[in-house]
Amino acid sequence: MSTVLITGANRGIGLELTRQYADAGWTVIATCRKPIAPGELATLPGDIQVHGLDVTDHRQVARLADELSATAIDLLINNAGVYGERNSAHQGIDYTDWEQAFRVNAMAPVKVVECFLPHLRAGSGKMIATVSSVLASIAESSPNSASYAYRTSKCAVNMAMHVLAGELRPDGIAVILLHPGWVRTDMGGADAAIDARTSVSGIRKLLDGAGLAESGRLFAYDGREIPW
Ligand SMILES: NC(=O)c1ccc[n+]([C@@H]2O[C@H](COP(=O)([O-])OP(=O)(O)OC[C@H]3O[C@@H](n4cnc5c(N)ncnc54)[C@H](OP(=O)(O)O)[C@@H]3O)[C@@H](O)[C@H]2O)c1
Repeated sequence: MSTVLITGANRGIGLELTRQYADAGWTVIATCRKPIAPGELATLPGDIQVHGLDVTDHRQVARLADELSATAIDLLINNAGVYGERNSAHQGIDYTDWEQAFRVNAMAPVKVVECFLPHLRAGSGKMIATVSSVLASIAESSPNSASYAYRTSKCAVNMAMHVLAGELRPDGIAVILLHPGWVRTDMGGADAAIDARTSVSGIRKLLDGAGLAESGRLFAYDGREIPW
């Protein structure tokens, strides 16, 4: 039996990750910011343990890691994310919002890894997956949408995970960056290209076949590697 910890598990891609891993027989530690109102998450069948976790609250992250100190984790998925405002420089940028995007998208995934390293070392899966975005790729993303907060914070998490991949290689822990596709969620919107089920099926297949050879690299849900 394998165990996965997922952040932002109450809606969107995180909820679908929870559903599919639980369906596949995994134990899912599903974390969400407001555990008293987890909505659909509370109704999913399977071995799902729901825990409260605001990923930007470092004390909460450390406390949960302590609470779960006897639990080995095979796969940790940093999924929680915010888009932030979409303004261009012409419209005026909200720098507080930009800072918040950095807290959620860039720094929190590193803090979660830091606190859950003992659990990952104790597990046999030895994998960390962090959901990033093609919008952070300088090589591929269109210069037309501004979205400074989102795009720079996802760039930052790409580098942080790339560095972590090097740090954790001696422990045999792989660190994979994911682009889930343009997905119909609250963040992706109703016009997005694919549903969460398609995205997560692809992500699971990708992670199943991934290991240290793929560590520190960014892949789309369909297996294509995305250049920085
Ligand atoms: N949808 C897309 O097209 C797309 C494309 C590329 C990358 N992504 C990435 O995929 C991931 C999931 O996105 P999504 O489309 O599922 O977005 P979503 O529907 O907006 O869901 C975002 C999730 O992140 C959680 N979250 C935000 N801030 C948090 C915090 N401080 N602590 C804990 N949880 C927090 C939200 O919790 P609350 O309900 O409490 O707000 C929610 O569960 C994100 O990292 C996103 O950047 C999405």
